[in-house]
Amino acid sequence: MRVKVAKSAGFCFGVHRAVDTVYEQAEKGVRPIYTYGPIIHNEVVVQDLEEKGVKVLNSREELEALTEGTVIIRSHGVGKEIYDLIERKGLHCVDATCPFVKKIHKIVERESRAGKQIVIIGNDRHPEVEGIKGWCSTAAIVLESAEQAENFALPEAVPICVVSQTTFNYKKFQDLVEILDKKRYDRVVVNTICNATEERQAEARQIAGEVDAMIVIGGSHSSNTQKLFEICRNECKNTYYIQTVQDLDLEVLRSTGLIGITAGASTPKKIIEEVQTRCLN
Ligand code: F3S
Repeated sequence: MRVKVAKSAGFCFGVHRAVDTVYEQAEKGVRPIYTYGPIIHNEVVVQDLEEKGVKVLNSREELEALTEGTVIIRSHGVGKEIYDLIERKGLHCVDATCPFVKKIHKIVERESRAGKQIVIIGNDRHPEVEGIKGWCSTAAIVLESAEQAENFALPEAVPICVVSQTTFNYKKFQDLVEILDKKRYDRVVVNTICNATEERQAEARQIAGEVDAMIVIGGSHSSNTQKLFEICRNECKNTYYIQTVQDLDLEVLRSTGLIGITAGASTPKKIIEEVQTRCLN
């Protein structure tokens, strides 16, 4: 078997920065230390941090119940009211929101204040989208599918501002914007898809088109991993999704010549290397 690993596989800049921040805080931060939601969609990393005393807050209620310590905001970011709550509670806030997500917060805050209807192209249930919505002064509309975009209509002719979830599929984003274009709203469109995602998706597509089998590594809740899987599956029927090297079924891959490997933004380098080594041995 030969193996080709995508150069863009694994942690992106924002996730790297957020994970490093938590490890730094675990060493020298004001205790007890919490992350608001798991820092990344990777159980191995979250467990390692837990052993170092970093606890995960799973809800707003859990945050509300705190009386002391540090709360770290993860790369997905949160709405303004969470910052306000942390401040009101007198907790120490460490903000590891990815600067690219922060940029979206600033855009929607400014544009919604200026009277524009914010349209977010993304997954309504994703925490990043939740956070973006939390910076809009009026309720944002979230569109994920062509059908939703087709049905999109505003009661009045208000100007719109379209942004996207950073990890959204670029092609799909363009398709939805095209549908909105036909509706002739007075609109600004800001493509806020992160380059890291585009690069990872483009490289995955290219490798999946060249190999006999493709492995996509990532956490089960990671939406960018699911999208990578979809993209690779379109190019290569033998695409397999795994979380760690334990899920790897070498029997299935045995007669395969060239295997491609890519991984979502929350996959540590170590896991990618383990999978690569196992395929080669
Ligand atoms: Fe940031 Fe892009 Fe990663 S938005 S968290 S660098 S995918």
